[in-house]
Amino acid sequence: MTMLPVAAACLGITIVVQIIIIERRLAAIPGPFLAKFTDYWKVYHLLKGDYGETIYSWHQRHGPMIRTGPRHISVGDPNEVSRVYQIKPLLHKGNMYKGVVGWVKGKNVAGLEGMVDEVEHTNVKRVIAPAFSWRSVLNYESHINNSAEELVKNLENRDFVDINEWFPYWAIDSMNNIAFSTDMGFMKQATDIGGTMKTIRAFTSVWMYIFAFPTVFMWFAWALSFFVGPSGKLVAMCLERVSSRMEEKKKEDKVATEVDLLDFYIKARQEHPDIIAHERVIGMTFTTLLAGADTTAFNLAWTVYYLLKNPAALRCLQEELDKAVLEDSMSYPPTLQELSKLPYLDAVFKEGMRYALILQLNMDRVVPKGGMEICGHHIPAGTTVGCLSRVIHFDKGVYGADAESFRPERWLEASEEQRKVMERCAIWFGSGKHTCIGQHFARAKTIKALSMMLMKLEISDADKDAKMVSGAISSTRAPTHPYYIKVKKRDVYLAEA
Ligand code: HEM
Repeated sequence: MTMLPVAAACLGITIVVQIIIIERRLAAIPGPFLAKFTDYWKVYHLLKGDYGETIYSWHQRHGPMIRTGPRHISVGDPNEVSRVYQIKPLLHKGNMYKGVVGWVKGKNVAGLEGMVDEVEHTNVKRVIAPAFSWRSVLNYESHINNSAEELVKNLENRDFVDINEWFPYWAIDSMNNIAFSTDMGFMKQATDIGGTMKTIRAFTSVWMYIFAFPTVFMWFAWALSFFVGPSGKLVAMCLERVSSRMEEKKKEDKVATEVDLLDFYIKARQEHPDIIAHERVIGMTFTTLLAGADTTAFNLAWTVYYLLKNPAALRCLQEELDKAVLEDSMSYPPTLQELSKLPYLDAVFKEGMRYALILQLNMDRVVPKGGMEICGHHIPAGTTVGCLSRVIHFDKGVYGADAESFRPERWLEASEEQRKVMERCAIWFGSGKHTCIGQHFARAKTIKALSMMLMKLEISDADKDAKMVSGAISSTRAPTHPYYIKVKKRDVYLAEA
C-alpha cells in the first residue's frame, strides 16, 4: 500500500519530464505563440477560411516547419513529402480522419478514407485496388464517354453556362455511371436531384469542423445516427442500391462478374467475406461518390478558369487537339489512348491539378514510436505532421521561380529528371499508402471532358473581369459563386463529327 503513492509520484514525474522534453524539442520549431498551447489557433483559421493562406505565409517567413498546435506541425519542404507519407515505418493517419465515416444505427460504414485501422485498410485496398487500375478505367470508358458527350450536348445548346452548376452535374452523373451503370439524370434534368450535390458539399464543409474537433464530432455523428437514420440522402441511396443489386445477384445464383464499381465491390464481398463486410460495401460505394464527384468537378472548373485567364495556353491546347483531328489520329469521342499521346493536354492536366489546390487541409499523419527526423529536426513520437498542397505545390525550388503562375509549359520544359521530382513532390492525389485510389478515374474523366468540350466548342469568359472565388469553409476548394462562360458551337471541320 505504501508503494502506491511513490509509484504515482514516479509516474507523475515521468509524464511531466516527457512533456518538458517534447515541448523543448518542438519549441525549436517556429509558429504562432498561441499554437504552442492550444489547437484553437488552427481551429480559428480553419473556421475563418484563411487557413491555407496563413500557413503559406508562415512557411514563407519562417521556413519548412511550422508549429500549428501543441503537437501539430505543418511540413512545407517538398523533399520531405516522401518521408511524411512513407510506408516503412508507416505514419498512421491523424485524428482528423476519424470523422470521415458514415454511420448507420451506430455501425461504422467507413470507406477507405475513414478507415483508421491500417491493417484493415491494407486488406481492403488490396482486394479492391484492381477496380481502380488504369486497365479497369479503360473498361469503363464507355460510361465516361456517355457523361462527357452529354455535358458537351448540354453546353452547346446554351449561349451562357455556369460551369459551377454544370461541371458538378456532369461529375455526379459520371460517378454514378461508373459506380452503378445508371445516370441519375442531373444533366438531363439540369438540377441537383434530391439535393445530392448539396449533401456532398455539406459533408465536405462539415469536414472542416471535424478537422477542428475530430473526437467530439465522431461521437456526435455516432449518437445522431441512432435517431436520424443514415447520414444523409447519399448513404440512404447507397443502401438502397447495394441492397437491390445484392438481391439481383442472389437471383442470378452465381458469382458476380464486374460491370461497374458496385458489381466489383459485391464480387469482392462474395470472394472475401472475411475482409469485405456488408457495411463496407455501403461505405465504399458512398465514399466513391463522395470522394470522386466534387473533387473532379472543382478540378475541371479551376482548370477551365485558369485556361480562360491564360488565353495562350487555351489556344495551345485547342491547336494540339485540332492538329490531332486533322492528322486523323483522333476520333470523336477521342479514346483515352489517343488522348494520352497529347503532351500539352497532359501538361494542362498536371498544371490544373497543381494549381487547383483541391484539398485545403494538411493530410495529417502521426510520428511513430521512436520519433523521426524531418527537415533536420528530431520529431518526437505522437506528434502530428502533415503537408499542405498550397505550400508544396507553390515551392519555387521544385516548380520554378514562377511557381505562382499557371503555366502548363513548365511540365514540357523541365528536364526528365526535374519533371520526375515535380511529379514525386506533388500531393494533389496525396502520397504513400493513402494515395487517391480514384486518380486514374479522375484523370480519365477530366481529360475526356476537357478535350471533348474544346473539340466541339469555342469557350470564352462571359465577363472578362469576373473572378472565380472560393470563400467557403470547406475541406475542398469549392467555387462559391456562379461562373459564366460564353459557349459557341465550332463550325469548322468538327461540325459533322
Ligand atoms: C481531381 C479529383 C480528385 C482529387 C483532387 C483527389 C484527391 C485525393 C487526395 C489528396 C487523397 C488523399 C487524402 C489523404 O491522404 O488524406 C485522396 C484519397 C482518396 N480518393 Fe481521391 N481525389 C480525386 C478523385 C477521386 C475519385 C474520382 C475517386 C473515386 C473513384 C476518389 C477516391 C478516393 C479514395 C477512396 C481515397 C482514399 C484512399 C485511401 O485512403 O487509401 N478520388 N483523393
